[in-house]
Amino acid sequence: MKLFKLFYRAAAVAAVVAVLALAGCKTNNPNVTNNQKSTDMSTQQTLNEVADRKNFGPQHALMTTPQPCVMIATWDKDHTPDVMMAAWAGQYDYNQIVVSLSKHKTTDNLELTGAFTVSFADIHTVAESDYFGLVSGNDVPDKVARVGFTVTPSPNVDAPIVNEYPLTLECKVVSFADGILVGEVVNMSAAERILTDGKIDLAKLQPIVFDAASMSYRAIGDIVGKAWGAGKVFTE
Ligand SMILES: Cc1cc2nc3c(=O)[nH]c(=O)nc-3n(C[C@H](O)[C@H](O)[C@H](O)COP(=O)(O)O)c2cc1C
Repeated sequence: MKLFKLFYRAAAVAAVVAVLALAGCKTNNPNVTNNQKSTDMSTQQTLNEVADRKNFGPQHALMTTPQPCVMIATWDKDHTPDVMMAAWAGQYDYNQIVVSLSKHKTTDNLELTGAFTVSFADIHTVAESDYFGLVSGNDVPDKVARVGFTVTPSPNVDAPIVNEYPLTLECKVVSFADGILVGEVVNMSAAERILTDGKIDLAKLQPIVFDAASMSYRAIGDIVGKAWGAGKVFTE
């Protein structure tokens, strides 16, 4: 099952568990104490306590929070642009990305064109980006124009580049099976305004991330250490 669908199923199970807990329900299983009782209602798995920690059960293991807020842009059959939000996404290989997708207008478009672009929602585009995750192009065909966004055809793949997002990956579909999209990044382009000394500067991009624990978006913070560097204090 797709990660994205699993998340919503898990959220529903968690809600039921929370309601039961609030109602003061006791477990009927004589082998399980109340603070050990299963939170995985699908398998009735009994959980053991982990010392000095609160167990949340397996459903929350789905959270690799924070997650990126990637914006997938495609053309439909009439060359109308569509954009959707995806948070179950990541880097798959050196030049490949992976996204867990349910069926959307976007997935129909992907199968039609074999291409898409990926941009990154930022603190200036929270409402527009969330709208792209709330509303389907099947119901609102002009959803991109509706928020006042504009697009430019990618010169490298058969997909639109959203002008309001300053950093964009142009991608070709490598595979799309069982709800898992793998795309090859053929180009990355960035607007001058997010560059410092010719390099992408996240302090200027100001991307947002999806926080599944609070079901909200967060800005990212300061640099707190050098990668492949901060740990060197233990190598000396
Ligand atoms: C925060 C957030 C994250 C989302 N992540 C995903 C995801 O990873 N995969 C997915 O299939 N849908 C995801 N969605 C739902 C789609 O963005 C949504 O169904 C959208 O309306 C599809 O648009 P389309 O039908 O125009 O393609 C997410 C929505 C939100 C608000």
